[in-house]
Formats: sequence, structure tokens, C-alpha cells
Amino acid sequence: MEHTALPSIVVLDFGSQYTQLIARRIREQNVFSVVLPCTAKVQEIRSYNPVGIILSGGPGSVYDVDAPPADPEVLKLGLPVLGICYGLQFMTHTLGGTVHAASKREYGHAEVSVLKSSALFSGLPATLSVWMSHGDEADKLAPGFRLVARTSTAVAAIENIAAGYYAVQFHPEVHHTKFGTDLLKNFVFGICGAQPSWTPQKFIDSTVKQIRETVGDGRAICAISGGVDSSVAATLVNRAIGDRLTCIFVNNGVLRKDEYAKVQHNLRTKLNLNIDAVDATDCFLSKLAGVTDPERKRKIIGNEFIEVFDKESHRIEREYGEVQWLVQGTLYPDVIESVSVRGPSVTIKSHHNVGGLPAKMKLKLIEPLRDLFKDEVRRIGRDLGMPEDMLQRQPFPGPGLAVRILGEVTPERVALLQEADDIVVTEIKRAGLYEQIWQSFAVLLPVMSVGVMGDQRTYAYTCAIRAVTSEDGMTADWVPLPYEVLKTISSRIVNEVSGINRVVYDITSKPPGTIEWE
Ligand code: XMP
Repeated sequence: MEHTALPSIVVLDFGSQYTQLIARRIREQNVFSVVLPCTAKVQEIRSYNPVGIILSGGPGSVYDVDAPPADPEVLKLGLPVLGICYGLQFMTHTLGGTVHAASKREYGHAEVSVLKSSALFSGLPATLSVWMSHGDEADKLAPGFRLVARTSTAVAAIENIAAGYYAVQFHPEVHHTKFGTDLLKNFVFGICGAQPSWTPQKFIDSTVKQIRETVGDGRAICAISGGVDSSVAATLVNRAIGDRLTCIFVNNGVLRKDEYAKVQHNLRTKLNLNIDAVDATDCFLSKLAGVTDPERKRKIIGNEFIEVFDKESHRIEREYGEVQWLVQGTLYPDVIESVSVRGPSVTIKSHHNVGGLPAKMKLKLIEPLRDLFKDEVRRIGRDLGMPEDMLQRQPFPGPGLAVRILGEVTPERVALLQEADDIVVTEIKRAGLYEQIWQSFAVLLPVMSVGVMGDQRTYAYTCAIRAVTSEDGMTADWVPLPYEVLKTISSRIVNEVSGINRVVYDITSKPPGTIEWE
């Protein structure tokens, strides 16, 4: 599907670790911004309706044999261009100036003196504390350029006003650069003349319109989990094509307590979605019987999911007619990860998502969230009328409780963990901590130990409590939960969940631990 056609700032990625931040800073100003690989064709750039171009930083040198290539035509689109770090060197080199290796690599804080009045520095102090990260620096400026700012040793900012070219050697997008956001605002609003039009409602309207045009009178399906991404994606498509979208919600037998019923209720009554709920608990649990290896559990659940989904989609086709489209809640960071083979951004890929569906089913993809960050998806969800408890739901892994039941997954163990987990989540919510915590849950250990209940000796399972804070799941810190909360959780689990007689607390951060136990 085509992306949103709102006026945008296109950021070309030359491989800097900060590239995504540039787009994010611009979106924070309600201006749409998208990152494309530096190799993007001019036609693709134009399709984003740009009012300005930003060339990102990058680790390379313009003289490297494998210097990140960009089409020089990008500089001739007649649009204002802002080069950042490598972007400055690329512009200088491409437009007829020279660049040389700095005698000393500059990395970290630097003081910049603004020498000339410039639209880019409008309203900013004459001396700025900025963040530098570069090995090369501009030497002879390209014809038509003038020096606007410098550090004690190097060129810090240049411009060619007539051509609409601006460039800085430092990184305005990082927090360490004071007034960096103001500089970007000067470029986006003052120089490019962008309007702050990228509001959630605008995004919703233009996305719905676009989906309607793309899908025509076709039919779509969507795998839905009750999580924010798939629910927001489905709701947008539902606004566009109504009941011609069927959302398939599968009970894989390892959902949390009452989740199968609650999610259906939420999606049907609060979001008006056309839900096809399939209880495949028995299929999943029978395939998981006797399996203890975590990766095999994941594979079995992933494959079984595709089987169930495929079967269900054929049933839908028999009942309503051909399905051409598959809706997925792919987010912007996922897109960056998967397109980075076209550009030089180095990324670290994690597991996740329902892979393999499109290939097997030969469906065309609709990914309405592929330009958004997670917090932007929440904003959109809020505007779509999604209830706050759905928007703030903590991440839950695809293989569900199966990776929190160590050893074999049996119906009895699932039931035990559902009860214990429900107590953990309830108490964390009651303490007002749920939204500050990235994930909080219970893990069932295949460890039996002796206890006493009244006059009775017990011999039962152990349950571990896990609560972590995290930005993105890649690293995490364990949360020092208040003693009172731990005490209540522990006493409720041992008293209310017959089959668990011991509760322990996991105090391991990631790394070296992982968030899930399997
Ligand atoms: P780990 O355990 O690797 O988890 O520290 C990092 C984040 O990923 C989630 N996770 C998964 N999500 N399928 C998923 O959809 C999986 O197989 C899976 N394993 C871990 C985990 O909940 C955490 O948010």
C-alpha cells in the first residue's frame, strides 16, 4: 500500500545511529517525516510529497571506495536541503568543494560560534553547546557556500541560501545539542515552510482514504492479538472498508486468564471490529505435549498459528468471497530493520511478529502503521477511541505463557500460571505501577518444594515474579517493587493458587538475563 501523502520532510539515511531520531524530532513538531535509504530513487522520494530533504550523518568518509551512494539528483529537486555531519561532507564533496580527514576525530561536546546571521540559527544564542561525531571535516567550501558557524578547529555550519542548501557538522537531533530542536524547527518551518499538519486526526483521515482507494471493493483479513499495534491497524482498515475486514483472533491455549473473552469483548464492543474468534486450545496444547525445549515450543506455536490462520482464511473465502489483502501492524522501527539492507544503517533484529504469513498465503500487505513509532500509534489509537487499558497494555510475547512455563506445557500448568499471573498484574495495577513498568508477570518453575499450610505438609510448584523497566525490550532493569506489593502478591498466590506453595522474586537485569525466562 502507498504511504500517507501529507507534506513531509524526507530524511535520507547514510547510516548514522541517530537517523531515526531526526524523523522523530520532526514528527514531534506535527510535521510528517520519513527515513529512506540514501540509495532511494528520486521518484520514491517524490512520492512522499516532500517540502524539504535532510541528509543524515553516517560513519563513512566521502572518499571511501564504498562511500554510501546517493543520487546527486536529490540536490536538484528544487527543495531545501539540510546536511547533517556526513550530509555536510556529502554536499560539499558533490557540489565541488573538498573534505579532508580531521587530524583529530571529534566525538562529544563542542562549542560552536555562530558567525553570521542565518535562517537556520534564527533566535538561537551566538554560542552553542553541541554534540559532534565525525572523522572528516569540510575544507574548501563548494561554490556559492559561505561559512556560518565554526568550532575552534572546524567548520560547523555552512549555507548557500540561493540554492536552498544548509549543512551542519554537529547533530541537532540528539538531546546533548542544546537548541538542536530549535535549529530543526528553523529548517522545517522557517526554511521549508512546512505546516504542523501531521495530527493524529489528519493521519487517520488520509490513511483511511488511502486504504479505501487501494483496497477498492476487495476483502482483507488480519491476525489480531488484542495488542495495540494489530488493534490500531485493524481499526483503521475497518474505518475504510467496514466488515470486508475480518479479524482472526486465535486462542492458542497459552493466553492469560480470561484474555480470550476480554479481548473479543473489547474489540467487538469498543472498536466495532468484525472478529472471527477461533478457540484452537486443544490443537496447540496437544502439539506442545511432552515438549520442553523453548525454541521448539516457539516453532510449534508459530507453525500451528499459521495453520489455523490459513484454514480460517479459506473458510472466510468460501463464506464471503476471495480475500486479497492481509493487514499487519508493522511499525516504523520494524520497517527500518527490514529495509536496512538497502541502506547502511546497522540494526539489531529481535524475534517477534507473525512471520511467514504473507509468503504462504500470497496476499498483498496493508501496513497502515509502517511510518509510525510506538508512542505515535498510541496517540492514533487514542483518537480512534481505543480504551486506555488497551493502549497501555504491556507487551505480551506471541508464544504467550508457553515461554513462562519452564518445562512441559500442560493444561494444569497453564491454569496455575494464569491464576498466579492474574494476581501479579492485578496487584501491580492496584499499586498504580502498571504503566510505569515495561512488563510484569509470573513464571511457573518446574521446581517442587515442601511447605506447610495449616497442619498440612504441601509439596508444590514454585512461582517467580518478574517486573522490569525498559525502553524497547533490548535492555531491561529489574524493578525494586515495594515490599508491601511483593508481600501481597506472595501471600495471595500461595493462599489462592492451590498447586503453588513458594514465590521468589527475579532480581536479574538484561543483559545478562533476558526478560522472559525462555
Ligand atoms: P527477551 O526475553 O528476549 O524479550 O529479553 C524481549 C522482549 O521480547 C518479547 N519476546 C517475544 N515476543 N515472540 C514475541 O512476540 C517471542 O518469541 C518472544 N520472546 C520474547 C518479550 O516479552 C520482551 O518484551
